[in-house]
Amino acid sequence: MRIAIVTDRSRMDFLPSEEAIQEDEQKRRTVEQVQEILADHYDCIALTADDEIISRLRAEKIDLVFNLCNGLRGDSKIAQLPAMLEFANIAYSGSAVVGHTLAINKLLSLQMFQAAGIPTPRFAAVYSLADLDDLNMDFPIIVKPNDEGSSRGIHQDSLIFDRDSLRKKVAEELELYQPPILLNEFIEGREFTIGVVGNGDAIEVLPIQELDLSALPEELSKFYSFEVKTYYKEKTIYHLPASLTAAEQDLIAKTAIRAYQALMLRDYGRVDIRVKDGIPYVLEINSLPGLQKGRSSLWRMAEAKPGLGYAGLVLRIVSTALKRYGKL
Ligand SMILES: Nc1ncnc2c1ncn2[C@@H]1O[C@H](COP(=O)(O)OP(=O)(O)OP(=O)(O)O)[C@@H](O)[C@H]1O
Ligand SMILES: [Mg+2]
Repeated sequence: MRIAIVTDRSRMDFLPSEEAIQEDEQKRRTVEQVQEILADHYDCIALTADDEIISRLRAEKIDLVFNLCNGLRGDSKIAQLPAMLEFANIAYSGSAVVGHTLAINKLLSLQMFQAAGIPTPRFAAVYSLADLDDLNMDFPIIVKPNDEGSSRGIHQDSLIFDRDSLRKKVAEELELYQPPILLNEFIEGREFTIGVVGNGDAIEVLPIQELDLSALPEELSKFYSFEVKTYYKEKTIYHLPASLTAAEQDLIAKTAIRAYQALMLRDYGRVDIRVKDGIPYVLEINSLPGLQKGRSSLWRMAEAKPGLGYAGLVLRIVSTALKRYGKL
């Protein structure tokens, strides 16, 4: 069995920035860590997704691609490698085009959750300031770009308490990001992250992680903004497993799985949920969650699960994908 870990070209070469340096470095480390694990069990190489990727995969006689490509360009970026691999009939880990496309688009995700009867925050899509005139939503409201990740565009001042500030913030975001801008009713409550692994009847959740922001300085609003992720890492507390009753745990896990299924995800994903008055509201799902050892939520969850661990999770992703293709 020959596996290729495939990752993006350098983001730094594409769009130089401080963030790009960090992303490149995180990708490089993840590839190294995943390769170290897979190399003990499979014949494993690492490749970069450039224009020649399909012919190189064929030349290397690859049986499975371990997909780590978020993509660099265009609305469909996260779905581009899966689409090429489908076309070339090459097996790969993780979600397919449809799952990634729904998950990256927060508006489509919320619409899918709603259609499936899964609790979500009330939401509205804003294409121009005129859309705010007949807005029927309670404050506070959180304003976010529709298809960014890693809290890009979700800043401390994205939490809005009145109409004037809402107009100002939406005008600013309409300049910066492609419409629509998404408005969510802000769910005041505990925040959980749920790792989901598997397909069909064999979907399971990893130990649930709670994100505790109570140690943040008083003046900061308590949500996972860009500022919190970037400058207050040491003030972010993760409880793993989260302190929950068996019934709460069960409800959160079941909701996460329903949400994962609603977006037609495959193999693995990471669901963000906030609980208010006992109701788990699904905020979004990451269809290609980070896997870096020592840093990612999935790494922490895997380590917290007796008998799994980080290596176990990486191998599980591969075996889950192989099973799906009937190669195991
Ligand atoms: N409706 C909401 N109610 C309360 N908090 C919210 C809501 N939407 C977003 N947040 C807060 O903002 C954070 C970032 O939002 P979200 O998860 O939608 O964005 P993201 O940037 O795609 O995240 P990721 O880094 O997981 O890709 C959440 O973790 C949560 O703390
Ligand atoms: Mg999130």
